[in-house]
Amino acid sequence: MQNGGTHEPGDDLVMHESAMVAERFERFRAPETPRPGVALPPGNIEAHLRLETHRIEKGLSIAEPRRPFGRLAQERLTFLLALAAELSGKGDGLVSAEDQAREALRALQRWNSADRGTRDPDLTQPALLAPDDGPSRKRDALTEFFAQRSSVRSFDPEKPVSPEAIERAVEVALHSPSVCNRAAGRVHFYEGRAAIGPLLDLQQGNRGLTGIRHLAVATVELSMFAGAKELTQPWIDGGLFLMNLVWGFQSQGIGSCLLNWSMPDAASRELRKVAAIPESELIVCMLAFGYAQEGTYVTRSAKPPLAHVMTLH
Ligand SMILES: Cc1cc2nc3c(=O)[nH]c(=O)nc-3n(C[C@H](O)[C@H](O)[C@H](O)COP(=O)(O)O)c2cc1C
Repeated sequence: MQNGGTHEPGDDLVMHESAMVAERFERFRAPETPRPGVALPPGNIEAHLRLETHRIEKGLSIAEPRRPFGRLAQERLTFLLALAAELSGKGDGLVSAEDQAREALRALQRWNSADRGTRDPDLTQPALLAPDDGPSRKRDALTEFFAQRSSVRSFDPEKPVSPEAIERAVEVALHSPSVCNRAAGRVHFYEGRAAIGPLLDLQQGNRGLTGIRHLAVATVELSMFAGAKELTQPWIDGGLFLMNLVWGFQSQGIGSCLLNWSMPDAASRELRKVAAIPESELIVCMLAFGYAQEGTYVTRSAKPPLAHVMTLH
């Protein structure tokens, strides 16, 4: 294999690791098209319920919604709800997807049965975007907010982050866009040296970081993806979810440092075991977070010029 003309000893691993990722994706992903009466695991039913629900809300949010529309979505939601009804011991995810699907079906019915009608308030809302064409304090404040984030590598171990603050950050992360609103991002939290030490031991990149009291492992639930063509989608959804988790912490004055999980599948298997992460979740990255140690320094991390990263076509 060529790598800038040089064959490195690890290059053959690329094929092996790709196969491992693909194998796990195949094991858990949903079929591209669900079939009436064909049983599916709960996660795959949830994926399709969310996907079809989104088809309806999207249909109602476009500039000129058709009327009637959504026959296929309605058919699929109906048989998916029947499949879900047969399952016992469903988790929160599936239950909420069922509720949202029923709401979407009602909204679709209202829209299709009326001659004329306004947008459905349960599924759509006016866009809250005001174009800003002049000096704007809000824009300045937000620009500053984004510019002020830096990776923090020295934490104050004596200052715990409250569970409420952690939940607020996850709420921000949940606002992330995701394919067909399937919200596949997941995050596991660990606190205290005894819990996080063994996890950090598996990661290469936390050397020199001090005072880490809180650690998150961001993952993506693979059963939320449908069809082979979505193979690389989990990384994107997972990255967006993780970035917004960081903003959720930043907005509360809580610092963080992403800790790469550029690790082989064998290490992911080990991490799943040690950190009690389900087999169906793809590991995206670790995140050390907490209050910064007073007086700590952060990098300036100079960036390349704008023209290098953007192309105006
Ligand atoms: C996916 C990812 C993995 C990273 N892994 C590490 C890591 O293992 N250790 C570390 O100290 N920083 C890690 N970082 C932080 C980067 O070094 C940092 O984001 C970059 O240098 C820019 O600096 P800033 O975050 O302060 O703006 C990671 C960043 C990303 C996006």
